[in-house]
Amino acid sequence: MFGQPTENAIDTSNAGEAERVRELLRANDELKELNAQLRDAQDKLMQSEKLASIGQLAAGVAHEINNPIGYIFSNFGTLEKYMARLFDMLNAYEAAEVDLAGTPRAALLKALREENEIEYLKEDIPTLMAESKEGITRVRTIVQNLKDFSRVDTSQEWVMADLHHGIDSTLSIVANEIKYKAEVTKEYGAIPDVECLPSELNQVFMNLLVNAAHAIQAERGAITVRTGVRDTHVWVEVHDNGSGISRENQARIFDPFFTTKPVGKGTGLGLSLSYGIVKKHDGQIEVESELGVGTTFRVVLPIVRAIRPVVPSATES
Ligand SMILES: Nc1ncnc2c1ncn2[C@@H]1O[C@H](COP(=O)(O)OP(=O)(O)OP(=O)(O)O)[C@@H](O)[C@H]1O
Ligand SMILES: [Mg+2]
Repeated sequence: MFGQPTENAIDTSNAGEAERVRELLRANDELKELNAQLRDAQDKLMQSEKLASIGQLAAGVAHEINNPIGYIFSNFGTLEKYMARLFDMLNAYEAAEVDLAGTPRAALLKALREENEIEYLKEDIPTLMAESKEGITRVRTIVQNLKDFSRVDTSQEWVMADLHHGIDSTLSIVANEIKYKAEVTKEYGAIPDVECLPSELNQVFMNLLVNAAHAIQAERGAITVRTGVRDTHVWVEVHDNGSGISRENQARIFDPFFTTKPVGKGTGLGLSLSYGIVKKHDGQIEVESELGVGTTFRVVLPIVRAIRPVVPSATES
């Protein structure tokens, strides 16, 4: 009824009536705002429930795959060493064949070698081995990431750590991935040490930074890392002026295996993993993005783990 008020709606000779209408309009605006907040909270709840159940599934799958992948990986290393020994032996036999020159046996060996394409196998086997090893390594990384995502591995220690230190060391690790694509600017606030699992948080920063670099298609982009503190929490933002993320994709980016990158470039685990790590820290990870303009990821973490008030959302330092 008051969805689209017209001038006429409040243009009444009766001042009391006009005031009442204004009051109703204000109430209506408030309700709309509350409704939007409710919808937002519901979205977040659904997202975190969905990820919790995916996490359980992932933990099961990771556990099942982890074992066979472990022995395939280990056997593969042994197999590579055995192959090298067989090749050494084969070369020795070939050298010895010279001594048989002119005999029927030498002719037979030559024919057999050609029939079985031994020269080709000698070249191709190491290539196949290398490719397979890379494949297994990739599967192992995915399984490890799934395990991290579902928080199966709890062997690490919680310490009070300087997040700037972690971000700086992560920046130096990903420097190669970033330096040709973007200028990185740091806008660090004065933040206290945070109770955390530093290496896991570094993984979050790494995922955000690499994603930011990947999103930049222009000649030269800009990535800004900002930090700040508000009350009981610190926040870290990674901003890029890259491609941006469409509305419908924003609802899916934290899902495991959701990726828009070509096969081999992205597994779609970076953000789901980061989500799990931030949750483990009783924190929040949020995204703000506009297509063609850029994206900001914001990680909010409690300074000390036990404190769990409502997480601030305003950008304050
Ligand atoms: N800064 C960003 N700008 C634009 N799109 C982004 C950004 N960060 C994430 N995305 C989108 O979210 C998707 C999921 O990101 P995520 O890090 O989980 O996986 P990935 O980068 O595709 O693969 P992986 O991190 O496993 O190598 C990306 O494929 C991309 O479409
Ligand atoms: Mg990624």
